[in-house]
Amino acid sequence: ALVVRQRMKNSSRWARAMAIMKAFKEKCATPEAKLRQVADAMTVEMHAGLASEGGSKLKMLISYVDSLPTGNEEGAFYALDLGGTNFRVLRVQLGGKTGGIVHQEFAEVSIPPALMSGTSDALFDYIVEKLASFVAEEEHRFHQPPDRQKELGFTFSFPVMQTSLNTGTIIGWTKGFSISDAVGQDVVAELTKALKRKGVEMRVAALVNDTIGTLAGGRYSNKDVCIAVILGTGTNAAYVERAQAIPKWHGPLPQNGEMVINMEWGNFRSSHLPLTEYDQTLDVESLNPGDQIFEKLTSGMYLGEILRRVLLKMAQEASLFGDTVPPKLKSPSILRTPDMSAMHHDQSADLRVVASTLKDVFEISNTSLKTRRVVVELCNIIATRGARLAAAGILGVLKKMGRDTLREGGGKTAIAMDGGLYEHYTKYRECLEKTLNELLGMETAATIVVEHANDGSGIGAALLAASNSHYRGNETS
Ligand code: GLC
Repeated sequence: ALVVRQRMKNSSRWARAMAIMKAFKEKCATPEAKLRQVADAMTVEMHAGLASEGGSKLKMLISYVDSLPTGNEEGAFYALDLGGTNFRVLRVQLGGKTGGIVHQEFAEVSIPPALMSGTSDALFDYIVEKLASFVAEEEHRFHQPPDRQKELGFTFSFPVMQTSLNTGTIIGWTKGFSISDAVGQDVVAELTKALKRKGVEMRVAALVNDTIGTLAGGRYSNKDVCIAVILGTGTNAAYVERAQAIPKWHGPLPQNGEMVINMEWGNFRSSHLPLTEYDQTLDVESLNPGDQIFEKLTSGMYLGEILRRVLLKMAQEASLFGDTVPPKLKSPSILRTPDMSAMHHDQSADLRVVASTLKDVFEISNTSLKTRRVVVELCNIIATRGARLAAAGILGVLKKMGRDTLREGGGKTAIAMDGGLYEHYTKYRECLEKTLNELLGMETAATIVVEHANDGSGIGAALLAASNSHYRGNETS
């Protein structure tokens, strides 16, 4: 009798687990019609954000980049790329008209978590120290006289209200950073002060978002590039807009009539977005509640965390992992998206990667194959929703640019993509590309080229530093 009772208990638990999963799946659904609504809402918000400052959740920030690299850039330039858990320092040697990128070196350093919520001085001092030792090594290697005038492109991947190509104030932090004394400060001034404190001679020639850097880097190698999308820790897009289509721009009309816009699309939100109870609590408990809703559905910082929340609910309400709830399941952000990706791509018959990840991350052992299959299915639901929404976002941008249909003269549109999620989460990337084709239709999709701009953001910043150099003639015109 005891065995029978236990079996009944198990089967009703299982039924509850399945019901939770089914409800979640339904809430996450992104049928084509919904994606078209999301894309249209994106287009509408783009117009509103361009019309006036604060006109939309989409900030549509003016980048002051009104000409993209031509290929004539020349000289050695540094770049600093700060925007996620790591930052990079680069030195790029540009060869001018025929030379291309002659040489590049880089170093990558992780940011100690404490610095992500400390003071502005502490963060910038740390960065400049790493930059200084990189520069010293490079100069040693290339036997450069130390007094050579150095210039830097600064990729700073947070929302910034720019006032010129190399000045701008921090609007707020995203992606787990929260350094309150930096908000409202000029980022370049903060960096320059740290350079002075550490005795490093360097001029900051350009301040760019990673999307802008990626666009510039992408354009350098492919002249059809006019959109850049980042899918990494956070997500964002930039594109080339006609200056005349930017009512809030009161400056002089740029020479070629164009201006690159940093959309900050991570902050997009719309009633058409498929939000679940898990997304709502994730948002409420985040460092930036109410903000970056699109980012919280699509980007690397959050996908694993959504999965953890669903698993916790299934443990609590359907005893998915036995009578007690594994305590580690309650730790926010403990499940990183790379772990989720590893489970999602598990090809083994017994899903041993799923088993070992559950064990390593949550200390859950002895899971049944059935349970592991549930975990994989949840990964699929979450990644599919994110990737399809990202594709809808891209469709929205293409629509705004009038490039969502075949163009006269057969012109192509290239999209430079970068970010760890795009690069490493294969199923996510494949789903995004498939969805884009589905939304555009085969014929138009054939004219849209999506390419991986590997580390384009740092190179792009160096290129933009080159075109805004004080010390070299303007080789770009
Ligand atoms: C966040 C930042 C944005 C950046 C994106 C990708 O959304 O606010 O500036 O471009 O992450 O790194």
